[in-house]
Amino acid sequence: MDLPFGTDRKIRLGIWGLGRGLNFIHSARALNIEVVAGCDITPMMRQNFASIAPDAYVTDNEDNFLAQDFDAVLIATFFRDHARHTIKALEAGKHVMCEVTSFFTPAEGVAVVEAVEKSGKVYNLLENYPFSRENLFLRQLWQEGLFGDFMYAEYDYVHECRALSYAWNVNGGVPVEPGWTVHNWRSLLNYHYYNTHSLGPVMAITGTRPVSVTAPPCDVTLDGFLEGVRKGTACPSLIKMDNGGVVRNLMGSTTGDFHTSGRIWGTRASADKMGPLKIRIGGSGFGMQLNVNPEWPEMKELANQAGHGGGDFWELYYFARQILTGQPAPWDIYSAADVTLTGIMAAISCQNNGEPTPIPDFRKPDVRDQFRHDHRVVWPTDVDTQNLFPEGHDTAITGHFSSVMTAFYPCQGMSGLPLVREAFDGIRLYPHLADANGRLQVISAVNKLLRDLPSLQQNVAKAQRIADAYPNTIPGKTIRRLLDHNDAIPRILDADATRATLQNWLASL
Ligand SMILES: NC(=O)c1ccc[n+]([C@@H]2O[C@H](COP(=O)([O-])OP(=O)(O)OC[C@H]3O[C@@H](n4cnc5c(N)ncnc54)[C@H](O)[C@@H]3O)[C@@H](O)[C@H]2O)c1
Repeated sequence: MDLPFGTDRKIRLGIWGLGRGLNFIHSARALNIEVVAGCDITPMMRQNFASIAPDAYVTDNEDNFLAQDFDAVLIATFFRDHARHTIKALEAGKHVMCEVTSFFTPAEGVAVVEAVEKSGKVYNLLENYPFSRENLFLRQLWQEGLFGDFMYAEYDYVHECRALSYAWNVNGGVPVEPGWTVHNWRSLLNYHYYNTHSLGPVMAITGTRPVSVTAPPCDVTLDGFLEGVRKGTACPSLIKMDNGGVVRNLMGSTTGDFHTSGRIWGTRASADKMGPLKIRIGGSGFGMQLNVNPEWPEMKELANQAGHGGGDFWELYYFARQILTGQPAPWDIYSAADVTLTGIMAAISCQNNGEPTPIPDFRKPDVRDQFRHDHRVVWPTDVDTQNLFPEGHDTAITGHFSSVMTAFYPCQGMSGLPLVREAFDGIRLYPHLADANGRLQVISAVNKLLRDLPSLQQNVAKAQRIADAYPNTIPGKTIRRLLDHNDAIPRILDADATRATLQNWLASL
């Protein structure tokens, strides 16, 4: 295969953080990028890496890692550590690609921007969702003027990943160990901070930048999140862009996921990608709406094979292109700061009951000076994710916490508490289902629940032991809310009645 960028020079890459970081290895091989080193403090992640990149150096020590001979670092470490790791990698003379988001506080943002400027190295934020086929196609049409001026957009990244408070985001969700700990940052996540997958596409398509944000709090929450610590709820914000247009950005955990789907309106045309992409042309509300087949701008076979709808491929592509040819990539440090600061300011706005909050422009040194010492964080800082139980706790009981919660709320598939609802609510809706596929799904859920009832009962018993032994701890309160209020629990506890109901229903079909 022809090498891209007209050069056979290879970029030697080290990956720092080997969970999400592993997703890039496949695309790297096609792009003059050689993965030569990996670093992770967790043994399971290092093992996964070694099995995929057996010739690469691997270590748990970040200093030994950065001392290796390579050109660029891909940072995919814990969410709150990106600024420190970026600055350290730049100081070690490496180009940096950093996973979302760029930094955690405004003061860290100033430090990262200035470290990038001082280093003269390439910095790219790894925001992949603008590089889906649909979003790249919309960006191209927008640049050609088909949509006119940006007026309004509604983009979503609603992702109910409750289990990831208690599990690693690898191999279908492996509970964190030891079992009495919770995940470093997903157990605490304030969704406003994780705003890039929905705001990012609008910024990239329209070329506008955010200037202020308002985010009213939503107080209705799902159970299963660390009680009093993290809210499982909808996190909407309204963002004013620099051309006067407005974005409604929706994140959060709700009963319906929408991953970076959206609708976007310009003064000449509008687009709807809640499902397959549709574009309404004619510059009027009732213009003709057309289904379109978006195309990749180039290299489509490789992009199709990459993860996250091709976005991961394009992130690496633009980064390599900038290093090898000098052509600027999207998501330089200033755009990265714009999107990251919008999340931070949305969280601050939400804390202040939706007060409109300006988004500083860190391109300007005098603006940076105003935020150099701004360490504000709207995030639970007093929770030690490694020590949620009192000293001397009985690990025979508490050691089940992460696996109990993961079993209640699994990462994927029909199981846990959602399975109970799927079976009973599916039976309720069954007479009204429009197609055979839906009927089959409900029957499968009912059969699966019949099989899973004994293990669900065991899980409730383990949960009860934790809540009874440690009622005043965060895990104890989390479980108590769930046991007392989730209507799946009585159905699990009264397994005989539940089994009879399900079997009678199956027999009646
Ligand atoms: N763009 C996307 O679609 C996408 C998807 C998932 C995650 N992410 C981002 O990627 C980052 C990593 O997420 P993840 O899903 O892999 O989960 P994660 O946060 O659990 O993984 C981080 C990994 O880094 C390791 N690590 C932490 N500190 C380290 C250190 N000092 N030295 C070496 N290793 C260290 C951990 O052991 C872990 O394996 C997060 O910031 C997240 O925002 C982005």
